[in-house]
Amino acid sequence: MLETELYTWQNPPRMDCFEVEGGRCLEGSVNASGSKNASLPLMAASLLFEGVARLTPVPNLRDIDTMQLLLSELGMHLERDGDALDITTADASQTEASYDIVRRMRASISVLGPLLARRGRATVPLPGGCVFGLRPVDLHVRGMRALGATVEQENGCLVAKAPSGGLLGASMDLCSPFGSTVLGTINVMSAAVLAKGESVIHSAAQEPEVVEVARYLRACGAVLEGEGTASLRIQGVTCLKATPWELPADRIEAGTLLLAGAITRGRVRVTRCRPTELRSLAAALERTGLTPTMGEDWMEVDARQVELQNIQLETGPYPGFPTDLQAQWLALSTQMKGEGRMRERIYPERFMHVPELQRLGANLTRSGDTVQIQGDTALTAAPVLASDLRASACLVMAGLVAKGTTTVRRVYHLDRGYVALESKLQKLGAKVLRRRDVEKP
Ligand code: EPU
Repeated sequence: MLETELYTWQNPPRMDCFEVEGGRCLEGSVNASGSKNASLPLMAASLLFEGVARLTPVPNLRDIDTMQLLLSELGMHLERDGDALDITTADASQTEASYDIVRRMRASISVLGPLLARRGRATVPLPGGCVFGLRPVDLHVRGMRALGATVEQENGCLVAKAPSGGLLGASMDLCSPFGSTVLGTINVMSAAVLAKGESVIHSAAQEPEVVEVARYLRACGAVLEGEGTASLRIQGVTCLKATPWELPADRIEAGTLLLAGAITRGRVRVTRCRPTELRSLAAALERTGLTPTMGEDWMEVDARQVELQNIQLETGPYPGFPTDLQAQWLALSTQMKGEGRMRERIYPERFMHVPELQRLGANLTRSGDTVQIQGDTALTAAPVLASDLRASACLVMAGLVAKGTTTVRRVYHLDRGYVALESKLQKLGAKVLRRRDVEKP
């Protein structure tokens, strides 16, 4: 039986905070955990299969708990066995996701395509806004409609129905004004694998998570090609059989730990990761004067003797610099020499961490989608509020170099996407303590 907590106003999420003592240099080696953003759509894809889908190593994260809860509500049977997760269909009649679960995690939209393809209909509440601005799902809807589904909005939900004979292969373009869509591409691809005939997704996202799901679907019997390019070609099949799958390492967690090493002028090696997926981070670090080293499954930064220089950087779709490392980079940039600039091209509003960094003394000026950085700032500890997952990581990083003890509140955001971050940082020599906070939600 799956035991996942259902948070209500009577049973709010635990309000923990981190106390971070500044001034310690990180040194050592730490493993990356399994990828959150690959796990979530891979779990949702289990709705497509016959047989037991075994995923491993599934990271122990709040977002994973939420997806487990959602899938179990949709009639899936889930069982944890160490770091493996087995998922199989128990009741295929369920097609409605509840708002109480979907509102907690936007990745819940990933069940739309698999439900529609396998069960012929899906009701998924619109996830709503998020702290870093608009996050529409119009491209998901465009893709499902292209495959012949009707998609209407009713009572805050997307209600999607496949034609009576099933989805039909089609050609479509999934480009947004901000580039391609990662979960949109995965969602439509996951529906098209069971559609009749051929589908072509133009402007497909090329992120490693899309590639991972495409490979997984192929291993389960899907016929598709072009993953990792802007054009995905899919020949529909009638049935997919689950197969065990090993999840990749979390590239954003790995990048965060490396940047934490750099901000403390330390030496940190992240093992069990895929350095090829961190090329844009390595290239950006090289421009600052730091040369990361890497092997087949590890990457290291040694910032002990290096004077880091601020640069101009912008986020972009893969292989560009990830938006999910933008906040952490801003923390680092407060400690680099000279002036720098960061432009956020994926989520122009994703700067909730800026005022919190300013409370620690950072010299940052935001104008629209761009932040100007005046580097080499002495940060001083203060209580700060985490507003989202990556912003929380950025504030913890800033705390590592601020004078005094910084309290980062609302670390439940951090627990959505980082496995025991405090333990990993402690292993590297940081003094970071998790405490139960007095704040009431
Ligand atoms: N967009 C649209 N219409 C859509 C979908 C997206 O206009 O229908 C726009 C978005 O507003 C945004 C851009 O397209 O400007 C890219 O959004 P995308 O759809 O690629 O984001 P996502 O798939 O919802 C995933 C990750 C995010 C990560 C983004 C971008 C997961 C679970 N989430 O979201 O990760 O920031 O891709 O790389 O995979 C995180 O882990 O902290 C996180 C937020």
